[in-house]
Amino acid sequence: MWHAPAHRRNPFQAGGLPRGTGTSMTVRIVIGAQYGDEAKGKITDYLAADARYVVRTGGGPNAGHSIHLPEGSVILHQLSVGVLRHGVTGISGPGMVVQPMRFVDEMRELEEKKLLLGEPVISDRAHVLLPIHEVEDAWEDALRARQDPSRGIGTTGRGIGPAYADRYGRWGIRYGELSHLDTLRARLDLLYERKRLIPNLPPRAELERSLLEAGERLSPYIRDVDPLLFGALEREEPILLEGAQSALLDIDFGTYPFVTSSHPTSAGALVGAGLPPQCVSEVIGVAKAYATRVGGGPFLTRAEPREEEYLQRIGGERGATTGRPRGCGWLDLVLLRYVARLNGLTSLAITKVDVLGGLESVPVCTAYVRPDGTRWTDRPPTAIDDYAGLEPVYVRRPGWPEFHPRLTERLRREGARALPRALQEFLAFVEQETGVPVEYVSYGAQRDETVRRTSSRTGRPRPEPISRWAK
Ligand code: IMP
Repeated sequence: MWHAPAHRRNPFQAGGLPRGTGTSMTVRIVIGAQYGDEAKGKITDYLAADARYVVRTGGGPNAGHSIHLPEGSVILHQLSVGVLRHGVTGISGPGMVVQPMRFVDEMRELEEKKLLLGEPVISDRAHVLLPIHEVEDAWEDALRARQDPSRGIGTTGRGIGPAYADRYGRWGIRYGELSHLDTLRARLDLLYERKRLIPNLPPRAELERSLLEAGERLSPYIRDVDPLLFGALEREEPILLEGAQSALLDIDFGTYPFVTSSHPTSAGALVGAGLPPQCVSEVIGVAKAYATRVGGGPFLTRAEPREEEYLQRIGGERGATTGRPRGCGWLDLVLLRYVARLNGLTSLAITKVDVLGGLESVPVCTAYVRPDGTRWTDRPPTAIDDYAGLEPVYVRRPGWPEFHPRLTERLRREGARALPRALQEFLAFVEQETGVPVEYVSYGAQRDETVRRTSSRTGRPRPEPISRWAK
C-alpha cells in the first residue's frame, strides 16, 4: 500500500493548523437563507452568548442588523453584533468593505447608548469603502435604470459594488495600508484618475483629509485577525461567523445581476474570515416563516397587494439601512432546499413566526411550474429571463393563534414545548421538505424571544451548544 511521505500524512500538521482544529470544530456559521432581512442579526446576537469571537465576514454598510435590548435598540451596519456582549471580540472581518467615517459614527452611537460592551476589531485585510464608491454606486444604478427601469438593481446606494470591483481589480486600499501615507496617496491618485469620468466625486483633498482622520481614530482597532482566530482554535474557544445579506444575493449563486457583490454563503464566510473548512461545526440558515425582498430582481412568491400590505404592516417590513418598504410574500421551499444544499445547512432558525399568528392558513410554495408542465423543486433558474412563465405551486398549512402575552410568557418559562401545535406542525413540514432540522424559533424582536427545539424529523435532542463560554 502506498503511504504519503511522513511530512504530508497529517493535513493539519502539514498545513500548520493548530492541534485540535480538526476535531474540536468550534466554528459556527450563520447565514441568510432568503433575500436578506431574515433577522440574522437577532439570531447571531442570541448565539453570541456562547461565543468568544464573532466575525462579520462580508459586505459592508449595506447590512443593517437590528438588535433590541432592554437597554435600547440599535442597528449595526458595519460592526459585528459581538461588540454588544461583555467578553466578546466583535471583528469586522477580512472579507468586508468598511466605510471608515460611517464606522466611526456607528462606534460613537454605541458608546453614547452605553452598548459598546465587547471589543471591536477591524481586520487589516478588510478594504476601505470610500465616499467615491457611494457616488459611483448611485451613478451606475441610475445608468442601468435609464436603459430600462426594470434593470436597476435597486442597490442600497452604499458603494458595495464599486468597492468590491476595486478590490478585485486591485485598485483598493486595505485597512492595514491606512497608516502608510505614501501608498495611500498613490492609491488615491490612481483611483481618482481611473474614475475621472464619474460626475460629482467629492474633492480629492477633502476625502484624503477625512480618511486620514478616520484612519487615526480607528488605528487602535485595526489588527491582523489571523493570530486572534487561530489562537482561539488552538484554545478551543468558540467562534461565530456572522453572515450578512443572504445566499440568494450571492454574486455567483444568487439571482444575478440582482445580487450583492460578495459571497454571503457558508464557503464565502470562511474566505471572509480566513478560516479553513475543517473547523466548522454548524451552519445555521436563518429564514422568516414568510418571505421578503427589497430592491430589484425576481420574487416568485410575492403576495397579492392586500396580503403584502398586511405582512408589511404587521411585520414592520422596511429596510433597516434604506427605510425602503420590503416586498412581502410566502415561504419558498424551492429556494430553501437550494440554499440548504449550497451551504450545507445543519439547522434552520425560523423567525417572525408571530407575524403570521392569527391567520387561518399559511401558504407555502413547494414547487414552480411552467405552462408546459415542467416542475422545478430544488433550485431556481440560472438566467433571469428563465423566470418568465414560472408559477409558484402553493400548499396551505393550518394557521396558528396570535402571540398574546400569555403565550409569550409560557414560551419564556417552558421553551419550545409551549409553541402552538399548528406552528409545530408547520415547522415539522419545513423540516420534512428541506431535510434540515429547525432548531431555533424566534417569535419577537427582543433578545430573549427565541426558543431552541428538538427536531421532530430525527426525534433526537440537539447536542448542547459548543461549550458555554465562561465570562
Ligand atoms: P448592494 O449590496 O447595496 O449592492 O445591493 C444589491 C442588492 O442586494 C439590492 O437588491 C439590495 O436591496 C440587496 N441587499 C444588500 N444588502 C442587503 C441586506 O442587508 N438586506 C437585504 N437586502 C440587501
